Amino acid sequence: MPAFTASAPGKIILFGEHAVVYGQPALAAPVTALEARAVVSAQMGGSSGEIWIEAPDIELTAPVSELAPEHPLRASLAAAAGTQDLSRIPACRILITSTIPVSSGLGSSAAVSAALIRAFAAFLGRRLPDQEVSDLAFEIEKIQHGSPSGIDNSVVVFRKPVYFQQGKPLEFLAIKEPFEILVADSGIPGSTRAAVDAVRQRWLANQEECEGLFNRIGEISGTAREVITSGDPRELGPLMNENQVCLRELGVSTPELDRLAESALEAGALGAKLSGGGLGGNLIALCDTAAPRIEGALLRAGAQSVLPTTIRG
Ligand code: PMV
Repeated sequence: MPAFTASAPGKIILFGEHAVVYGQPALAAPVTALEARAVVSAQMGGSSGEIWIEAPDIELTAPVSELAPEHPLRASLAAAAGTQDLSRIPACRILITSTIPVSSGLGSSAAVSAALIRAFAAFLGRRLPDQEVSDLAFEIEKIQHGSPSGIDNSVVVFRKPVYFQQGKPLEFLAIKEPFEILVADSGIPGSTRAAVDAVRQRWLANQEECEGLFNRIGEISGTAREVITSGDPRELGPLMNENQVCLRELGVSTPELDRLAESALEAGALGAKLSGGGLGGNLIALCDTAAPRIEGALLRAGAQSVLPTTIRG
């Protein structure tokens, strides 16, 4: 019996993180150099319901029945199985691997859920449309992050740059001119749940100030969408810097991320901001011609790694 394989890419948020949780638009793009992969193979001779999961990146090897029902991997399998009971499913082995760093704002959890849901559904003879995979992965994101906006599952399932706003149809961005982004890992893990909670506390304590910042971030996302679809991508630089100021005021940047942003700008980046939840994780820098110099500056300023990526439609 063949193995069923599915993958999903990493992602960066170009503009609008956090504000997107409060109804503002945000822009995100896949990072296809990073990916999560799930492979489901039937185990001949095994009994129904014997489902083994191996996820070497998180040092997990266990039968699914031993994972708590709310464990994201088990919950993903249950979601993919739909109305079928996991205990009646033919014996199989599932291997999950990922090159997307965890807790770094690169969408690792959404990508793992999306790949696993798609591969397991295929093993069960269900070919799920993208929207259904995205909707199911969103349910798993809720278990992991509390109140996610839905942008991560959307961008990794559809594998296209998106303009996303809760409650509105997903828009795919037509990119007039591709542009180069360096993704620099601060080396400090950032928990999305902790960052979203911290912003929520700030918002509860000072709604007027936070809503002013969310509105401003929403406007930046709107302008960025115009620039990306019909303008000169170099104009995105100042918008990224302004978005970073708002994120700093929301309390989700860190001295390390600020230092990376400063060094990228000094070396010639057109703009720089954190990407994802923050409180650690990654910084993104927009480059035109000076990418190698900016990469060197980021590494000297403490980046653990720098990944160049091109944003195209
Ligand atoms: O840290 P990440 O990659 O999961 O990105 C989170 C983006 C937030 O806007 C902070 C949360 C969300 O659900 O949109």
